[in-house]
Parts: sequence; structure tokens; C-alpha cells
Amino acid sequence: MNKKLLRREVLKACSGVATGGLVGCFTSTVQSEERRSPNERPRVGVVGNGGIARSHARGLKRLADIVAIADVDRQHLEQYNAEYAAGKAQQFSDYRDLIDAPGIDAIFVCTPDHWHVKIAIDAMRAGKDVYCEKPATLTIDEGRTLGRVIKETGRVLQVGTQQRSSPKFQTAVALAHSQRLGKMKRVTVAIGSGPKGPTFDTSSPPSNLNWNMWQGQTPSVNYITQRCHGNFRWWYEYSGGKMTDWGAHHVDIAQWAIAPDLPGPELIELVHAEHPVAFENGVPTVSNTYNTATSFKVRCVFADGVEMLIVNDAKDLGFDNGIMFESDGGRYFVNRGKLTGSPIEDLAKNPLPEDLFTKLRKGQDKLSHRENFFACCDSRDTPISDAESHCRHLNTCHLANIAVRLGRSLKWDATKQQVIGDEQANGFQKRMQRKGFEVV
Ligand SMILES: NC(=O)c1ccc[n+]([C@@H]2O[C@H](COP(=O)([O-])OP(=O)(O)OC[C@H]3O[C@@H](n4cnc5c(N)ncnc54)[C@H](O)[C@@H]3O)[C@@H](O)[C@H]2O)c1
Repeated sequence: MNKKLLRREVLKACSGVATGGLVGCFTSTVQSEERRSPNERPRVGVVGNGGIARSHARGLKRLADIVAIADVDRQHLEQYNAEYAAGKAQQFSDYRDLIDAPGIDAIFVCTPDHWHVKIAIDAMRAGKDVYCEKPATLTIDEGRTLGRVIKETGRVLQVGTQQRSSPKFQTAVALAHSQRLGKMKRVTVAIGSGPKGPTFDTSSPPSNLNWNMWQGQTPSVNYITQRCHGNFRWWYEYSGGKMTDWGAHHVDIAQWAIAPDLPGPELIELVHAEHPVAFENGVPTVSNTYNTATSFKVRCVFADGVEMLIVNDAKDLGFDNGIMFESDGGRYFVNRGKLTGSPIEDLAKNPLPEDLFTKLRKGQDKLSHRENFFACCDSRDTPISDAESHCRHLNTCHLANIAVRLGRSLKWDATKQQVIGDEQANGFQKRMQRKGFEVV
């Protein structure tokens, strides 16, 4: 504890230094002592050892070594070490100790959403590059903090929106950018429904779990099993339901395709929303069951008139997960399983110019999402899922959720990042954060 406090004091002292000073004060020493040569395998620390961390462990096998892991659940920590690091990774119950440990090049943040930015910025301030799971932020305001710290520290941050590195999704985006189908009119994004739960009982947290630390910045409440592992997605306290869970993927791709140069939508029109519990002033009135939306339709309109419909399912169009692009010249569909439509079939005879793809990849090689991250750690280039564009697109999801929670449409000044004429809605751009866990 004393060591952590001391470290916090050092960081505080450093953060008083002008931009760049922070890097000089803390990071550069770490970097010069520890930076591996590009020929060596990166040494990775994984924070949060649940579902997605397992899939990263499998993918990292051929790319990097997992040398350190951290989790607030001792059972997850030990199982992960045994299964994915042959028991050889250094184990930490507090991620700050992992960040302080020597010999780690990059950190994978695989915790629930409410911890992403806090851990990412602590890691970057300690000189680490970060692969941060999606959705990177819990609120619009966290995106501003994340952007500021990336600038201050000069660290590489890749968001875990791996669809951006998929040739299927890149083709869908490049086709929109080619404008060969004329004006894009509408894109429909279907992202599924969250569950409606029964009421759950509170209980004592299991002895292997540090429930206080798991809750982090969020209000401290009695433990309910279903608030925690995996199911945290269905509570606005920790996440945003399907709107941010899958919206972080599909809305990201859709907005990348139709509005890459616009700061965001101008109108977020609430067409329909249902929650599993009653809401008052945007806040659920019941605390013992899931509270994120089970059904929704939100129409986002951009300055050039193109509209994006975000729905839980698009039964009228025949799908419940994926993106349908509609333009004067035809329509096409993409999800993880398929890329279809006559404009896609036409690509066999008339392929898209390669430079459209090169631009999407920011001039970098064709690589998997994790490879792109490590390549950027070496080159210091900006990864394909950079925080700025991710947050710009994710903010559309956050705004849609604010509209859904308040039960009304919003006008958004995307340049000033303000909801126009609605102070209550603007209040949802940030949240009260528990003392000691503030994201600053
Ligand atoms: N990119 C993708 O396709 C994809 C897929 C699944 C999940 N995700 C994202 O990954 C994140 C995690 O999801 P999951 O399904 O793996 O969740 P999970 O609940 O299975 O795992 C999260 C782990 O983080 C641990 N944790 C919580 N707070 C911590 C802290 N302060 N320090 C260290 N460990 C902490 C938990 O104990 C748990 O073991 C979510 O943000 C989710 O959206 C991304």
C-alpha cells in the first residue's frame, strides 16, 4: 500500500510537469532500460483474466509471451496462469503492481468496461503500450481523458475492435468510400438484445474475489453474482448493454464507412426503446436485476443527410446482427459470417483500387489486429483502431444510450461535444467516480 501510495505521489509530481515532462519524468527511464529489440518477442502483461483474455492468450501464442497477469479474482488468475502461461507468469492481485513490474513491454486491458480507461492511462503513464479492449470508454468524458494521456505520453494504444483488421469489413468500408454506388442513403446496424433477468439475490462475495476492487469507480453496492463476471454488460453501472458491447464493433464500422470525416451525428432520434425495469431521470429504479435496454431503435443523422439506424434487430431486412448499407447504386450486407449483395458480386469483375485499403490501414501492412498492434509498438505508428476515431464512433453509441435512458431525442454539437439545449443529457457525459478510483 505504501509503495502504491509512493508511486501515486511520484505520478502526481510528474503530472505537474508540462506535456512531455511526464514522459521524461517517468517513462523514458523505463523505456530505455526495458525496451526490447524488434527481433525479440514482446513481453505482455494481461490485466483481467476472464473470457476475452482467454481468446487473446490463444492468439498471442505465436506473437508474444505472457509474462505477467493480474486479476481481482484469485481463481481466474490461477486458472489462467495454469492454462495459458504454463504457470510461469508473474501473478498480481492488483494491476498497479503488474504495471510497476520490470520486463513488460505492453499491457492488454481485458477487464470490464468501467476499468478500461483507468488501467490504460496508468499503464501509459508508466511507459507501457496498451491494447485496450472495446468499448474503450464507459462515458464520453473518459474518451477525452484517454486522448489527452495518449498525447501526453506518446504511447501506442490499439482498441480491441478487431473487425477493423478484417478484410470483409475493410471491403465493406472501402466500397462505401469508393463512392461507386453513388450517395449512401442509409446504414442499418443490428446489434442484438440484452437479456431481461429475474430478480437476483444479494450475497457475500466469494472469498476469491475482491469485490471492492472489481467495482472500481462505480457505486459500491451489495454483491450479486450476475453483476460480475460476463454479465456486467447488462448493467449501466459497468457497461452499456448491447449498444456499446456490439455497437463498439458494428457502429464503429458503419460510421467509418459513411462518415469518416465528420465529427459525429447531428441528431440522435429516439424511435423506440424498452428497458427491463422502470427508469427515472435516466436512472434505473430497481437494483437487483439487469437494467440495460432489451429493445431499441435509434436514428442518427449526419450533416450530409446520411442516416444510421441502430436497432436490436432488423427483422424487416432479415438479420439481427450485421450492417446493411443502402445507396442509390444498390445495397450490401456485412457481418462476421458474410459479405453479400450485388455490389459485392460486382467486385469480382471490377475490384476496388488497392489504395482505398492502404488508406484504411493507415499505409501499414495487411496484418491481424494483434500483429498491427505489435508492429505499431515497434514503428511508433498509430494503430488501425486508434483511440480518437474509436471514441468518435463509440460516442454515437454513448449518445444513443443517453437518448434511450432519458427517453428522448438529442441534438448534438459534435465539434463542441455538447448536447444542444439539454443539460440533463449533458450530465450523462460523465459520472460520479468513487474516491480513490477516479479516472483523471
Ligand atoms: N473484442 C471482442 O470481440 C471482445 C469479446 C469479448 C469481450 N470483449 C471485451 O472484453 C472485456 C472483458 O469482457 P469478458 O467477457 O472477458 O469479461 P469477464 O468478466 O469474463 O472477464 C473480466 C475479468 O476482469 C477481471 N477484473 C475486473 N476488474 C479488474 C481489475 N480492476 N483488475 C484486474 N482484473 C479485473 C475480472 O475478475 C474478470 O476475470 C469487456 O470490455 C468486453 O467488452 C471484447
